[in-house]
Amino acid sequence: MLLLFIAACLGHLVLMVASHNWFYGLPLPHWMTDAIHLLHGLLVLAFPPLLWWNLSSLFDFGTFGGGALSAYVILCWTAALVLLPINIAFRVLRPKPRALGKVQSEIVNIVKQLGGPPAGVGKKRLEPLLPWNEAWQVEYVERTLHMPRLPAAWEGLTILHLSDLHLCGTPDRAWFRAVMDRCAAWEPDLIAVTGDLADGLDYIRWVAPVLGRLRCKTAAFAILGNHDEWYAPDKVRRRLRRIGMHVLGNSWEQLDVRGEPLVVIGQESPWFPPAPDLSACPAGPFRLCLSHTPDNIRWAQRAGVDLMLSGHVHGGQIRLPVIGSILVPSRYGRRYDCGVFDEAPTLLHVSRGLGGDHPVRFLCRPEATRLILRRPLD
Ligand SMILES: [Fe+2]
Repeated sequence: MLLLFIAACLGHLVLMVASHNWFYGLPLPHWMTDAIHLLHGLLVLAFPPLLWWNLSSLFDFGTFGGGALSAYVILCWTAALVLLPINIAFRVLRPKPRALGKVQSEIVNIVKQLGGPPAGVGKKRLEPLLPWNEAWQVEYVERTLHMPRLPAAWEGLTILHLSDLHLCGTPDRAWFRAVMDRCAAWEPDLIAVTGDLADGLDYIRWVAPVLGRLRCKTAAFAILGNHDEWYAPDKVRRRLRRIGMHVLGNSWEQLDVRGEPLVVIGQESPWFPPAPDLSACPAGPFRLCLSHTPDNIRWAQRAGVDLMLSGHVHGGQIRLPVIGSILVPSRYGRRYDCGVFDEAPTLLHVSRGLGGDHPVRFLCRPEATRLILRRPLD
């Protein structure tokens, strides 16, 4: 009986997490997302005592509410004993995307580099003190992507992909300076910043001095995310333009890269509707799309996007061994939590991002990525 009780509670947790992720993936106002956190937290805590008190009469359908509770318990058992193991098996056994080539990374503990913790003045500056928290570290990742439509002249073209800085006082400016200087040393051809730059009006002024340290050979592009929409998005866009970034919004630009045309598309839906209009966009050139949420992947497939860069979900921030991510704000749950996904004709790269409004990360380090584009191996 105890095992069935534990299985029901685990299944309830699985269902609540799935519900939370789905609702949190919707374009809701800030207060409503806070309400979703709170409501799901309360429901998670309320179920075990409710079930415990009703265990003896669980399948007594004559009792008031007994039938509904019993049906829900069966759903919980299904979630815990069938759906969760299937989901984990699919994730563990997922083959490496064919387009993903060599991957190398270096983990740097910025605390050692700076000589002290960059706690700063953020409201949540005590959270990084939690044991095993990886929020101060950065994984500098280099991923080679073999793209079928890559022009021969672009062999070895590099894109610095940064996402979700969440400038909120913690980590402090020195931490971001160290990360940006290391990224600048990569000397990428292009820079793509995929939203959630500042968390709070006070930190919008950090955007230019932090991102202004980056350097690239050709052009830098940026879009905004849901956290930017909560504060002063126009101010963020102005700061980005001031440092020479192309602020795409929901539009596209064509530029010449090594003598070949490149179309770069900004996709800020659903927080900044409507989606970009590509009716006048030339069909032939390679299409690179910056979309804050990976949930726009189906749109990108329909739009013939070759490479889509996203963030938003932070890799879940807290990951468990084998199980992986838990809280992932996406309509697709944790399907596109981080990494490379081959969704032909689109290749999707989802960054774990650099920050978060809560500076807490377990088995999910902040990430700065250098993408190296190459022709297919075959
Ligand atoms: Fe974010």
